[in-house]
Amino acid sequence: MGSDQANQTPYYITTPIYYVNDRPHIGHCYTTLIADVAARAQRLVGRDVFFLTGTDEHAEKVSKTAAENNKTPYEWATINADRFKAAFEFMNFSNDDFVRTTEDRHKEKASAYIKQLLDQGDIELGDYEGWYDPSQEEYLTEMVAKEHEYNSPVTGKPLEKRVEQNYFFRLDNYQSWLEEQFANDAVNILPSARKNEVLGRLKQGLMKVPVSRKIKEGDADWGIKMPGDDSHRIYVWIEALCNYLTTVDTVERNKYWDGEVTHLMAKDILWFHAIIWPAMLHALGKEPPKTVYAHAYWIAEGTKMSKSLGNFIEIDLLQAYAEKYSLDAVRWFLTTQGPLGANDADFAHARFIEVYNADLANSIGNSTSRVGNMVHKYFDGTVPATCNGEFGFPDGSSLQTALKALENAGKAVDDPTRTYNFQEFINEATTNATDALAKVDLETMLDSARSIVRYVDDFISYCAPFTLAKQLDTLDDGTHALQSILYSCAEALRIASLLLSPAMPEKMAELWRNWNCNHLTDPNDPNSPFVAPLAELAQWGGPHAIKVGQTIAKGDALFMRADGNEPAPEPAAV
Ligand code: MSP
Repeated sequence: MGSDQANQTPYYITTPIYYVNDRPHIGHCYTTLIADVAARAQRLVGRDVFFLTGTDEHAEKVSKTAAENNKTPYEWATINADRFKAAFEFMNFSNDDFVRTTEDRHKEKASAYIKQLLDQGDIELGDYEGWYDPSQEEYLTEMVAKEHEYNSPVTGKPLEKRVEQNYFFRLDNYQSWLEEQFANDAVNILPSARKNEVLGRLKQGLMKVPVSRKIKEGDADWGIKMPGDDSHRIYVWIEALCNYLTTVDTVERNKYWDGEVTHLMAKDILWFHAIIWPAMLHALGKEPPKTVYAHAYWIAEGTKMSKSLGNFIEIDLLQAYAEKYSLDAVRWFLTTQGPLGANDADFAHARFIEVYNADLANSIGNSTSRVGNMVHKYFDGTVPATCNGEFGFPDGSSLQTALKALENAGKAVDDPTRTYNFQEFINEATTNATDALAKVDLETMLDSARSIVRYVDDFISYCAPFTLAKQLDTLDDGTHALQSILYSCAEALRIASLLLSPAMPEKMAELWRNWNCNHLTDPNDPNSPFVAPLAELAQWGGPHAIKVGQTIAKGDALFMRADGNEPAPEPAAV
């Protein structure tokens, strides 16, 4: 929250569109969750956001698995697209649209872009011989193929030598333009380890890339035909990338492409997004994305997830966890423990319990119920006074009264000169959170929120309001001190809850309902828009602060402590 003025540039965030040969798993949910948390956080700071996800349907593997399941490709694609939609709804993702590449709105525009590139000479016909990775549906350079001993770098399956007549995109013409984009940070590749990999590969030189497939006898009628040549189909990868543009290429939505574009994905498909797509966009006369962010992988209980091992963490396991520990606990665990950086992350039950107890039950859950309980016990559930700076911190008067109470009770205070400046601390935390958000550094963003909760906990242990409460009769100004202490805690937790809400929208909305902070959003809809940007919402004692006389219902604890000895949840039998 560097300034009071929210960033006015529209924000457009995308996930990969997922193959519909199979059902969704943790990897798909994770990327989409990260996009959701970033989108919600950007909305919280006051930006106009468009968040897109969807499904990539014209792949060969979709028509193959459809046949294995005695379905037409479209029937099979629809079954799985519906599974993705249901999973994403379950995860409470706030995507503004869900695109299926079999929709006319996508097919028509994707064809038009390819036609433009053909007409301009950016796409041309030629012969091609290369190493093809059927599992990923992509060609690899001799160098990459050799490096992986002619096996797929992603799945380890053997590569195939293929010769075909094809249409090619002259990617080689865009080498120096791409180099410039990365040198100027016009296109940011994050995290930096990934950027170095892309730059390393770029240095080896770019080749023209095939953008079509010759239709063979017996092929399923699946995919988009090459404009002007019915004997070819547009290569699925090239068509799929276009989704980012086709979906917002309308009068109402163009502003999102003209705004700030962020593409999220895992490292497996970074090259397409960091090199091929920006070059295609430039050829089409469009701006490249501002950020291309490639995270690492989830593994399961220490082992890489694979079909052959059958250890994919699928949506039904996440649902079982959500049922037991709440959906927001699952969202929290995935967001904060996931492979957002350069390293892979392990989904392990013991770790889930550890994080759940430390970050949720013992932290925000415990603090809010503790403060709520004290407001009830000492002031009948009504917030007694504000603390808009006049009261106390860092002038310390309330604090001194609390410390006096501790002294009376014979309890030693480690450092009686300590001061707490809530306003300053919170301003810094919200600024750090907003800065981190700009780099999609969601861990740091959420950690800023947690630091406020820790500050409150530390403050409570330091000034022990429960000890103070026992001595109100004997201390000058004791009630006043207790009021301002509890006000400060409640107000700080209100602001922390705002910063936590992108990861845990339902639980934070529950807190706002309990605490009558209904003026932040619509109390009945945790997904409703905020009434003001964060800079205003998070103002200590500002227009949205906790008010004198505001009642705080005790409510149930937001997160019950979890018992690590209980067995791990298991997906319901299908
Ligand atoms: N259809 C292409 C993408 C086209 S985008 C224009 C595709 N689809 S996919 O279904 O295979 O999805 C790949 C993406 O799923 C990864 O980039 C990542 O976002 C997510 N994940 C798949 N497995 C994953 C993990 N094990 N861990 C984390 N995310 C992973 O590629």
